[in-house]
Amino acid sequence: MEKFLDQNGNTVSLCFERDCFNESASHVFVISRFNGEWLLTNHPKRGLEFPGGKQEAGETIEDAAIREVYEETGGIIGFLTYVGEYKVEITESDKQFVKAIFFAEIETIHEKDDYMETRGPVLISGNILDHSQKESYSFNMKDRVLPLSLEMLKNRGILL
Ligand code: GTP
Repeated sequence: MEKFLDQNGNTVSLCFERDCFNESASHVFVISRFNGEWLLTNHPKRGLEFPGGKQEAGETIEDAAIREVYEETGGIIGFLTYVGEYKVEITESDKQFVKAIFFAEIETIHEKDDYMETRGPVLISGNILDHSQKESYSFNMKDRVLPLSLEMLKNRGILL
C-alpha cells in the first residue's frame, strides 16, 4: 500500500487489489485510450483529467465507469478492466471516500451537445506523464496515482 499527500494536503492511500479498504469504492477514475491516444475531459475548474465521478444509486462501480466516460467524453467503452483503488482522506473534515481506478479502451466517440459539467473530450498523444504536471491539468492527474497505475498496467501486459 502506497500512502502520500496530494496537492491539497489530503492523504491518499493507493492499493492494486479489490476491496483493500474497509469501505467500498463509490467514485471512479477511468484511464481511457482511444486509437492509441489518451482520452481526457476538460473540466472548467480543474482542467484536463481522465473521466470519472461518483457512483449513482443502483449502479455497479463498472456501470459508473461506463456512464461517466460517456457523459464526459461521449466515449463508448470496448474493453474495461479494474486497475486498483485509492482512498482519499480529507484533512479539513472527517470525510473520506474510495475511488476505483479503471483502464478503458474506447471503441467510438459519439459527438454530443452536452458533456454534463465538463467541456467534453480532449485527445492527447504520447506519454501522458510528459503532460500531466502542466498547469492546464487537474490536480488529480498530478499525484502518484497515475504513474503507479500506468506502471501496473504495463506489468500486467495491458499497456506497452
Ligand atoms: P461535487 O460533489 O461533485 O460537486 O464535488 P466535490 O468536490 O464536493 O466532491 P468530491 O467528493 O468529488 O470531492 C471532494 C474532495 O475530494 C475534492 O475537493 C478533492 O479535494 C478530493 N478529491 C476528489 N477526487 C479526488 C481524487 O481523485 N484525488 C485526490 N487526491 N483527491 C480527490
